Amino acid sequence: MMIHPKARAIISQLSLPSPIQKYFSNLDWEIDLSNNTNPYEGTFSEYPDIKQDKLKELYLRVIFSLNSFNKEARQNLTSENVLFTVGSMEGLDLLLRTFSEPNKDIICVVSPTFPAYEHWALLHNLRIKKVPFLGNDLNKIDIEEVINTHPKMIFLCNPNNPTGTKIDDEVLQKLCESLEGFVIVDEAYIEFSDQPSSIFSLNKFKNLIILRTFSKAWGLAGVRCGAIIADRLIINALRYVQLPFGFSSFSQEKVREKLLRPNYTIASWEKIKIDRKNLIDTLSNLSGVEKIFKSDANYIMLILSNFQRTMELLIEHKINVLNCSAYFPDAIRVSLGTQEQNTKFLEVICKASK
Ligand SMILES: Cc1ncc(COP(=O)(O)O)c(C=O)c1O
Repeated sequence: MMIHPKARAIISQLSLPSPIQKYFSNLDWEIDLSNNTNPYEGTFSEYPDIKQDKLKELYLRVIFSLNSFNKEARQNLTSENVLFTVGSMEGLDLLLRTFSEPNKDIICVVSPTFPAYEHWALLHNLRIKKVPFLGNDLNKIDIEEVINTHPKMIFLCNPNNPTGTKIDDEVLQKLCESLEGFVIVDEAYIEFSDQPSSIFSLNKFKNLIILRTFSKAWGLAGVRCGAIIADRLIINALRYVQLPFGFSSFSQEKVREKLLRPNYTIASWEKIKIDRKNLIDTLSNLSGVEKIFKSDANYIMLILSNFQRTMELLIEHKINVLNCSAYFPDAIRVSLGTQEQNTKFLEVICKASK
């Protein structure tokens, strides 16, 4: 199996993990007596499907049907460009374990962003270069600063968590063009954005890697499924590192069910977008709110004019939001909940505005 030349040196000396070798051998068998499993126990007695080709094709079909304006981009993407992971959290750790050399490589993260990138990179003894988000909407970065760092990879969350803002498409394109390392775009919340996914740039940029998850918009956080979508050689290298069989038969079934009948879920995204607009409209008229960041996600980051008092009131009313003041003075991030939950949140902010 051809793997990406930038994978950790040790990987080229290894074979595929032994439990999965037979699935990639092209041999056809009718009876498999190699797993030491109990044949009398039914549905879950065998190991899960390791390749999940049909499920991956279905996934690609569904996500491209949601973004039908660029048919050309779909043509070259197949199941070989997809790896399902145990949530996208496994995906990001897998990328670090496969492509970065501990005590040597630099990983670039933008600030503020999802702290997990830095957390896992530090656990791999990697050096971190933090580049601040710039501009009023916190959606621009100093590209030259990133390029001059020569990172092995840069993690970009788009739309960004916790700000909710969408990174400029030119920024992403420029980084892919200019960096030798990988540009990893975490699209955990892309379904809530009206802007196109970076998936359409995969044919153009071989160093672009997309991280996706079923935990957020798809409502399957308990199922633990994420996806890495990238060049085939990148996916092949990841197979040498991923713990075999993490994507259980049960989880595969739940993802398949969701993808076969996605309409209810897709409709809920539209509802959440309307709720987001309504919540932003109301919040922007309140004196307790100093600034609201433009959100492309199912949460909103806002700066409070009376941070302390508002947090106390939220705690008093047993409402939990994310305190983002470590990133940005007096900032919180609030998820869009049900209409009832949003109303309760608004009531507290109104109270704090008096
Ligand atoms: C930006 C981002 N990426 C990834 C994840 C992890 O998602 P998963 O449940 O797929 O591991 C989260 C969860 O909060 C997130 O906010």
